Amino acid sequence: MNSQIPASAVLQIHALQVAYAGNVALDLNSLSIGKGEIVGVVGANGAGKSTLVNALAGWSRGSPTVKGDICLHGVQVSQWATHDRIRAGLLLVPEGKLIFSSMSVEENLSTTFTPKAGPGKKVYSRDEIYDLFPRLKERRQHLGSQLSGGERQMLGIGRALMMGPQVLMLDEPSIGLAPKLVAIVLNTLRTLAHSGLSILLVEQNVRAAIEVVDRLVLLERGKSVLEGSAKQMENDPRIAQAYLGVQAA
Ligand SMILES: Nc1ncnc2c1ncn2[C@@H]1O[C@H](COP(=O)(O)OP(=O)(O)OP(=O)(O)O)[C@@H](O)[C@H]1O
Ligand SMILES: [Mg+2]
Repeated sequence: MNSQIPASAVLQIHALQVAYAGNVALDLNSLSIGKGEIVGVVGANGAGKSTLVNALAGWSRGSPTVKGDICLHGVQVSQWATHDRIRAGLLLVPEGKLIFSSMSVEENLSTTFTPKAGPGKKVYSRDEIYDLFPRLKERRQHLGSQLSGGERQMLGIGRALMMGPQVLMLDEPSIGLAPKLVAIVLNTLRTLAHSGLSILLVEQNVRAAIEVVDRLVLLERGKSVLEGSAKQMENDPRIAQAYLGVQAA
């Protein structure tokens, strides 16, 4: 499916194909994220959501073959090593949450590699992270291993923000969280997008995702089968029936 590529696209993906031992897990024609835009990727277990963000970040759990174009601000990064992508601001908060369990919250934030800020590159300070997530400030002496799932999520996002993200990717940030915490985490993403950050949000929780994203892509068996604005998708009977539990008129 072809998506319209906004002129100001921060991240552009074209003909991205990822295969594990010859089995294609992801086959995506095109996807783009504009400045300050939140694009959601939803789909069932095994649809290829993690495969997508891992391929973009240059990570993998196995040794997949990755083909296609990944352009950050028009620069092809698909052959770049993970650490170079991180330096360029293509940052993934994975399911493991990007935190150190044996360090306190404060230590986790203090030991984060922070690049210099530059034009169009915001690097958050520790205090700004505490302002964004007051709960982390309250828990600053607690070890990573003592945090709740939601607090770990906030800390993972906090660490990524201190690394100067251009595109922040999150793999199922709502998983295992109480609805109130899901709302806190996802609403914070909205605040970050307003400040100009581009976000790729992978979610199984379509109901929660649709509340915060600008656009939504539905993946099925590695392919985009439906794509549109949050509003269009909300009203699409295929989404409404299957994911929102709404009876089609
Ligand atoms: N390291 C790997 N080796 C072989 N196959 C893999 C590997 N990682 C993922 N796959 C397969 O690729 C497909 C997509 O998996 P992926 O983890 O991307 O799905 P997902 O949409 O993130 O699912 P979930 O919602 O359960 O996290 C699945 O069929 C999965 O079994
Ligand atoms: Mg996954």
